[in-house]
Amino acid sequence: MLPTLLLLSLCLSGVLSLFPKACTTEEALKERCCCPRAQDGSMCGAASRRGRCKFMHAAPHTHRKSYRQQNDDRLDWPREFYDSVCVCSGNYDGADCGDCKFGYTGERCETKKMTVRKEVRELSRQELLKFFSYLSLAKMKVSARYHIMTASNRHERSTFRFHEASVYDVFAWAHYYSFQPLLQNDEFNLTTNFAHEGPAFPPWHRWYLLFLEREMQILTKDPDFFIPYYDWSRDNSTCTICTNPIMGASDSQGVLTSSSYFASWKSICSGFNYIDKYCPVAEDPCRMEPLHRNPGADPSNNRLSSFQDVEDALKWKDFDTPPFNISAKRSFRNCLEGFMDPTNGVVRRRSMHNLFHMFMGGTMSQVPLSSNDPIFLMHHAFIDKILELWMEKTNATSETYPQNNIFGHGPEDNIVPSMPPVRIKDYFQSTKVFGYTYSNYTPHANGSPNSQY
Ligand SMILES: *[C@@H]1O[C@H](CO)[C@@H](O)[C@H](O)[C@H]1NC(C)=O
Ligand SMILES: *[C@@H]1O[C@H](CO)[C@@H](O)[C@H](O)[C@H]1NC(C)=O
Ligand SMILES: *[C@@H]1O[C@H](CO)[C@@H](O)[C@H](O)[C@H]1NC(C)=O
Repeated sequence: MLPTLLLLSLCLSGVLSLFPKACTTEEALKERCCCPRAQDGSMCGAASRRGRCKFMHAAPHTHRKSYRQQNDDRLDWPREFYDSVCVCSGNYDGADCGDCKFGYTGERCETKKMTVRKEVRELSRQELLKFFSYLSLAKMKVSARYHIMTASNRHERSTFRFHEASVYDVFAWAHYYSFQPLLQNDEFNLTTNFAHEGPAFPPWHRWYLLFLEREMQILTKDPDFFIPYYDWSRDNSTCTICTNPIMGASDSQGVLTSSSYFASWKSICSGFNYIDKYCPVAEDPCRMEPLHRNPGADPSNNRLSSFQDVEDALKWKDFDTPPFNISAKRSFRNCLEGFMDPTNGVVRRRSMHNLFHMFMGGTMSQVPLSSNDPIFLMHHAFIDKILELWMEKTNATSETYPQNNIFGHGPEDNIVPSMPPVRIKDYFQSTKVFGYTYSNYTPHANGSPNSQY
């Protein structure tokens, strides 16, 4: 239970409230209930049969008993904050069941839709400029739907605060929040976080991009908006989109040049290295750092994985293998994430996903902050495309997602910080379920003739 004092202090600090705003009111927190009233005036749209407010029974989970002895607010998500949430019926979705599930549209969410996520170089100039103008809007416009949470001391619930943030910054915060190390018995377990270094890495990020895509579709009233991907595997270790007409050039100090579209962007939650805090700089926007990039400048990370590496990663048959962390061998997930050499599957070598982050330097190389740079979107859409190719090849489904003992990475664990909560295994399904596919575009013809992607 949240102590009453905390509730009062949240209230006094002017809290409304990836915390749905309707769920950070004094009443919602006190009642531990996140069942907002929908447009029809009823909780979870129950009067229109869109959903119901339900008490969450603890899901079967091997760690469940010990969860309460831990003191991390994200374990058993979202039970630290709420006992009841909306459970939406049919194709309805959203904190108040007012949205449609990913891949559905229409007043009753009855119409299936399908979008093709294109490669960024496939976009016409007009499409690219539209994408940038949507991103600018998302960066400026305060989210009407969500609050973010900060803490000056993660051990003390009384220091938790809710704040307004822009649509894009709510998204960036979610990555930061899920990345902070696990707090166990008052100590930080640096080997565990909720979105990386374990089997949840691919489905967590699949949900994460879908989350932003939907927020931006709603914000721009453009249901066809999609996140483009960047296939860096044929670019011969050059960031060919790091130019001013596209994602922006940077100077030798790593500062984006003033004519870049993103020159004025600042990173929410910069100052991430205080592991005992959550996002302290959000309270002092003047101190937020601008975006930085320095592609290829670090001599130990001046290469990118090649199309051959991608094909090698795709050949591993097991999605993930014990011990399900960064030491996992012959694991597709660990090769894709980039802790293991995809060629042999057993030698620790930075590659694939991790290598791109380090190659970019600056903001992208600081993992908790990395999603502040919009190039993150295109990088992760490509990682998601590779996941999809692997899932098609192996007939993977949510039922083949592995049981494992990593906190927050179990099939039944809820994605942190999804609201209403969704399970990790439910995002281990074909992209078609979520209403999108990837184009077959190949940037250059220098790939192998047998290339699978
Ligand atoms: C790739 O880049 C390396 C180093 O810059 C260069 O030596 C090589 O010729 C390039 N290869 C191609 C096919 O462009
Ligand atoms: C991975 O898990 C194994 C078994 O729990 C453990 O011995 C090892 O230290 C872990 N590796 C890392 C790098 O955390
Ligand atoms: C850290 O968490 C992992 C699982 O997520 C667990 O295996 C390991 O034992 C934990 N480390 C400590 C010191 O408790």
